[in-house]
Amino acid sequence: MEFLMERWYMAAGQRFSVRKYSDSPSGEDIRSLLKTAKMLEVSNMRVAIGFCERIFSSLFMGLGRIKGTDCFAAFIGKDTEPAAVGYLGEAFILECTALGLGTCWLGAFHKGKVAKVVKTEKGEEIACITAVGVAAEPYAARPRKSLQTLTGLNNKQLTELPEWQLRALECARLAPSAVNAQPYEFIVEDGSIGIRRISPNFGYGEVDCGIAMLHIELGAAHAGVSGKWDKKDDYAIFVPIAYDR
Ligand SMILES: Cc1cc2nc3c(=O)[nH]c(=O)nc-3n(C[C@H](O)[C@H](O)[C@H](O)COP(=O)(O)O)c2cc1C
Repeated sequence: MEFLMERWYMAAGQRFSVRKYSDSPSGEDIRSLLKTAKMLEVSNMRVAIGFCERIFSSLFMGLGRIKGTDCFAAFIGKDTEPAAVGYLGEAFILECTALGLGTCWLGAFHKGKVAKVVKTEKGEEIACITAVGVAAEPYAARPRKSLQTLTGLNNKQLTELPEWQLRALECARLAPSAVNAQPYEFIVEDGSIGIRRISPNFGYGEVDCGIAMLHIELGAAHAGVSGKWDKKDDYAIFVPIAYDR
């Protein structure tokens, strides 16, 4: 697991949303991603990989169109907390990045078409999908809110944080979110980091929080700290349980 955490930490700094592709993933990459999907499967959530021509055809006036790949992965839950969809979905996406593939989280997609391809069972719901393919566009570092805005801390307070907290926050700042809204604040306390949603973000706010939670863990792990998630009042809080360095 440590190996994967570092692999995904590195991928977090390279991932960006790719909307133009030159090809679908190779057979070898698909075999590898099927193993990842199996590994990430939990009782109430699974990742299914599918292929379908025109699956990404435009929903509205040519907006949000993905071109050049027929491959997608669907994040399918059964009474799953949206944050878990974000957390596990982002793990899958970062594994795609680590394999050199492009991805793009999609909250807006043809639900009926996707459900037919991945064959959902009763009670299952497709929360989001991602395109997967060979990127045909260069890396783009899209803007993010500053750590000052996300935490309410000033520069001096940020530089005085323990290494693991700073790495965790920096990695969380890179997390993708629907319409790039980053609809959360990070609550930095002595020895912990909390995350609280501050807007619904078109219904994707909790998924966005789950994505940022994985990034917090990856940044902390990079600095040798593993931990667990607890609930505090109305928000989730990451508390270290082990220091490796
Ligand atoms: C939950 C979620 C839903 C998203 N839905 C869409 C979508 O429907 N269409 C789209 O083009 N991008 C979608 N995105 C991608 C975001 O717009 C993108 O992550 C954000 O603008 C930041 O850019 P980056 O991923 O390149 O860092 C979604 C992202 C997330 C996390």
